[in-house]
Amino acid sequence: MSLRFAVAGTPGDRRVGLFSAAVVARGLPEPRLIPWADVLAGREVGAPAGTLLRIDSPGEDAEADALLRGPGDPARVGGGATWYKTFTAGLARLAAIPGVTLLGDVGEIGVMFDKRRCHAVLEGAGVPVPPAFGAGSYAQVRDGMADRGWARVFVKPVHGSSASGVIAFQAHAGRVQAVTSARWSGGVLRNSLDVRTVTDEGEVRRLVDVLGADGLQVERWFPKASADGAPFDLRVVTVAGTPTHAVVRMGVGPMTNLHLGGSRGDLELVRGRGGGLWERVLDVCTRAAACFPRSLSTGVDVMVGADWRSVAVAEVNAFGDLLPGLMDISGNGRDTYAEQVRAVVDGRR
Ligand SMILES: Nc1ncnc2c1ncn2[C@@H]1O[C@H](COP(=O)(O)OP(=O)(O)O)[C@@H](O)[C@H]1O
Ligand SMILES: [Mg+2]
Repeated sequence: MSLRFAVAGTPGDRRVGLFSAAVVARGLPEPRLIPWADVLAGREVGAPAGTLLRIDSPGEDAEADALLRGPGDPARVGGGATWYKTFTAGLARLAAIPGVTLLGDVGEIGVMFDKRRCHAVLEGAGVPVPPAFGAGSYAQVRDGMADRGWARVFVKPVHGSSASGVIAFQAHAGRVQAVTSARWSGGVLRNSLDVRTVTDEGEVRRLVDVLGADGLQVERWFPKASADGAPFDLRVVTVAGTPTHAVVRMGVGPMTNLHLGGSRGDLELVRGRGGGLWERVLDVCTRAAACFPRSLSTGVDVMVGADWRSVAVAEVNAFGDLLPGLMDISGNGRDTYAEQVRAVVDGRR
């Protein structure tokens, strides 16, 4: 009997299309789509017994977003706590579909979408991460920084992704600087596609206080290595526990997310550097993935220090495999989706 797949995702989403193409390319039946909006709205969802269910992102869908966070502009920042509660309830619904086998683990996805828990799990496993503390307001961020003697931090909404609401913040001699893609428009905080620098402390306070309502993870700023003046990090995708794909992301500012103008850099920058750097990156990503043993794939955001020796993990993404056209580091010509289908077909999951 041939394998049968289903995907919990968004109709028309590129991820669903790419995964389906990889399944069909193996001569297997096209996966059935289980729309996230149906799951979240409590509509009937199901799949034939024996179906292998891949859980993918509920993103890029206005209906799903409204069900997750309540009605409003899908580009707005915030609402993470509500989003997370509804999202994890949706995950539980998916896990309860009779007869299906999950290709991931809803508990692990839940940890990866909580930057505090994810950080604690990595730290507990000895994976290098920047030191961090939790905060709920600007005053708490500043107090926590003062207690630790930190002048530069990354402030991250606990349930954020795609740099939504992330602030690269520094304070020196009474002056502050906040770099973020969040922007006020019509009284609402929205994500924009570029970053700006805010130096007015009153505005920074207002921004952090609004985001703080949903919980903040404050991390010490890890000085990243740069190339041609651009700080960079890597997104490393693991499949069945092994790093299989890697891309260097050159940032235009302190955030390297590709939709914020970051660009794919030359992997040789890191792979060809010598001094065991590449091996260290792979080892750290393998250990980060080992914290999520029931996940078929993870996307590790890993930073190389300005010393070109130290390495630290910024986060692990549950849905971090959307890297169209990126082929595996072993040179087998497989993209992230073909790699995952192969792992399942070979029984490595
Ligand atoms: N502690 C840190 N020090 C330096 N840069 C960081 C730190 N944390 C995150 N970054 C940068 O900011 C980007 C966004 O942070 P990340 O934790 O990946 O959140 P998101 O879920 O929004 O992508 C990362 O790709 C990384 O380059
Ligand atoms: Mg990230």
